[in-house]
Amino acid sequence: MLYSEKVMDHFRNPRNVGEIEDADGIGQVGNAKCGDIMRMYIKVDKQSQTITDVKFMTFGCGSAIATSSIATEMIKGQKIEDALKLSNQAVVEALGGLPTHKIHCSVLAEEAVKAAVKDYYDKNGIEYDCSLYAPNNCVCQHN
Ligand code: FES
Repeated sequence: MLYSEKVMDHFRNPRNVGEIEDADGIGQVGNAKCGDIMRMYIKVDKQSQTITDVKFMTFGCGSAIATSSIATEMIKGQKIEDALKLSNQAVVEALGGLPTHKIHCSVLAEEAVKAAVKDYYDKNGIEYDCSLYAPNNCVCQHN
């Protein structure tokens, strides 16, 4: 089968879909080639620096929906700096694999999480290592 059970499950029943009105961080990324867009919202407990809630909106392919869905599950309840370590490979593994031509969809999920964390850091004047966002982790809002 082209897609794993897990991918199909997250595509059919995506977790944590929606928006968080008073989000502490919002990250939006897009893939210029396919035109898909992913937006990630996080709520952070400032005391413990933990992600207490996360929601996403994805306008894109099934794999983009499945990867964003599982990414939200993977970072919910995590320390914010651990969410930053989420890699697209980890997302693909958690989904039981993706076809090669769909790997870029998982990159979008990693970038969206990173963009949301960056937004949180920027809004709160928290210093971070810029190299985490460059050059392969572009969080440009305009592409
Ligand atoms: Fe573009 Fe999946 S085809 S994110």
